[in-house]
Amino acid sequence: MEMLRLLLWGFLIGLILPQIEGLGMNWGTMATHPLPPKIVVQVLKDNGIKRVKLFDADPSTMSALAGSGIEVMVAIPNNMLAAMNDYNAAKKWVDRNVSRYNFDGGVTVKYVAVGNEPFLSSYNGSFLNVTFPALKNIQNALNEAGLGDTIKATVPLNADVYNSPPSNPVPSAGRFRSEISDLMSEIVHFLNQSNAPFTVNIYPFLSLYANDNFPLDYAFFDGASNPVVDNGIQYTNVFDANFDTLVSALKSVGLENLPIMVGEVGWPTDGDKHAKASYAQRFYNGLLKRLAANQGTPLRPNQYIEVYLFGLIDEDAKSIAPGNFERHWGILKYDGQPKYPMDLTGQGLNTMLVPATGVKYLPQTWCVFNPDAKDLSKLGDNINFACTFSDCTALGYGSTCNGLDANGNSSYAFNMYFQVQNQNDESCYFKGLAMTTTQNPSTADCNFTIQIATTSAASVRFIGSFFVVIVSMVSAILFL
Ligand SMILES: *[C@@H]1O[C@H](CO)[C@@H](O)[C@H](O)[C@H]1NC(C)=O
Ligand SMILES: *[C@@H]1O[C@H](CO)[C@@H](O)[C@H](O)[C@H]1NC(C)=O
Ligand SMILES: *[C@@H]1O[C@H](CO)[C@@H](O)[C@H](O)[C@H]1NC(C)=O
Ligand SMILES: *[C@@H]1O[C@H](CO)[C@@H](O)[C@H](O)[C@H]1NC(C)=O
Ligand SMILES: *[C@@H]1O[C@H](CO)[C@@H](O)[C@H](O)[C@H]1NC(C)=O
Ligand SMILES: *[C@@H]1O[C@H](CO)[C@@H](O)[C@H](O)[C@H]1NC(C)=O
Repeated sequence: MEMLRLLLWGFLIGLILPQIEGLGMNWGTMATHPLPPKIVVQVLKDNGIKRVKLFDADPSTMSALAGSGIEVMVAIPNNMLAAMNDYNAAKKWVDRNVSRYNFDGGVTVKYVAVGNEPFLSSYNGSFLNVTFPALKNIQNALNEAGLGDTIKATVPLNADVYNSPPSNPVPSAGRFRSEISDLMSEIVHFLNQSNAPFTVNIYPFLSLYANDNFPLDYAFFDGASNPVVDNGIQYTNVFDANFDTLVSALKSVGLENLPIMVGEVGWPTDGDKHAKASYAQRFYNGLLKRLAANQGTPLRPNQYIEVYLFGLIDEDAKSIAPGNFERHWGILKYDGQPKYPMDLTGQGLNTMLVPATGVKYLPQTWCVFNPDAKDLSKLGDNINFACTFSDCTALGYGSTCNGLDANGNSSYAFNMYFQVQNQNDESCYFKGLAMTTTQNPSTADCNFTIQIATTSAASVRFIGSFFVVIVSMVSAILFL
């Protein structure tokens, strides 16, 4: 009887929650106060997510994933690619970062990402010579360790490795970027031989961000007023068009059927006029419905696509070189709270994600502008200082805190710095321009956050991530 009830219950849950098969999540950790890995793994499990893509192979992340049953893509950062050109170093990497976890109750590694978008145009070719040898060495090392049948090396590439000519901007004219076409051809033939997928990151948001004339509707999945017509196919969204441009590029080198997986796709919620929660909700709603229905794309219809959303949690220490939105890609806020309704079953229901549990916060204390301050001559310098060492991206044009008045701006900057500094006493002084308060200064649109309480391991990382900022911003150092 009990057994029957359990079976029935399991069947019902399966019926109610047909989670999108194999939906994956990117888990980045470029935050001043990263959530403890155990809490992250729990929130993944609570939301039924069974695949995760990492940007390194950090031992604390890996131990938290051990025994979880979650399938993992571990990664070799770009700055280690040159070292991986030495086969012995590659063997050692595989031994320490893959084989070590290969036991019952260990980590189920499925892929090794060799680099992260190493051929981005903005890298000026820095990784062109080292990526393919690293890919071969890692796959060979996996093979030699007896893991090659189940673990595949792949290179997550930005969609800028292929394009269509401006004279014929349609998916069927897709080719690999001319100056890397020979290299790309070698890489994809190697992927085919080792039975590994091509991994591409596709960002409709960036198409919109880069071009003021880009039609808004074309970034989403609910129809476009001016579809792109290509050999009788009507493309109504840029995701399909972009994906099929890659299919055509692969066809041009004889690999029309090479499996493609999407390593990153997502929509940010702050830091730009198009980066907002309502658009993110609309984007995911359309994307998840299609994935759940295994709709595929016009050139690969009715197919399952393995997809990793970017990303799981906001990262307040990410480089904002590409734009202020970079720190706001999370489907969860910095503290693991959901931002907007999102239905991971792809039914388009108005449900919220399950929030992270067991998160510990600093006290309910904020740092704000002191209205009694007399000498305001150094205010600008102090705001600059605060914003150099914390995340003020929500203050910019089109962002959630752009509507604050001048005092509100100062308060926001001071508070972000104060929270990054773990509410340390000296960090809310700013030459007498600031004071602490226990009254929440948040407004309807703009959230003055309280940081999460970090472990000592996380503070070490925080120092590391801001060291880079310190070096590159020497001019801002002497204001406190
Ligand atoms: C394992 O991976 C980590 C993170 O990517 C890296 O720092 C470390 O050097 C790797 N270990 C070896 C032996 O290569
Ligand atoms: C690439 O070249 C540009 C222009 O020469 C330069 O500004 C940029 O710093 C370079 N980037 C890298 C990663 O070398
Ligand atoms: C890559 O190799 C080519 C040919 O050997 C060489 O000309 C080029 O300078 C190398 N690029 C880098 C970034 O090392
Ligand atoms: C792709 O790889 C398979 C073996 O994995 C091979 O039979 C096939 O010829 C390859 N395709 C091309 C176009 O090289
Ligand atoms: C607040 O700061 C933002 C970003 O620096 C700026 O665009 C805005 O004009 C400021 N508002 C006031 C009232 O100073
Ligand atoms: C600000 O963020 C915190 C933490 O996620 C949340 O609990 C709170 O409701 C938010 N407040 C506002 C005004 O959005």
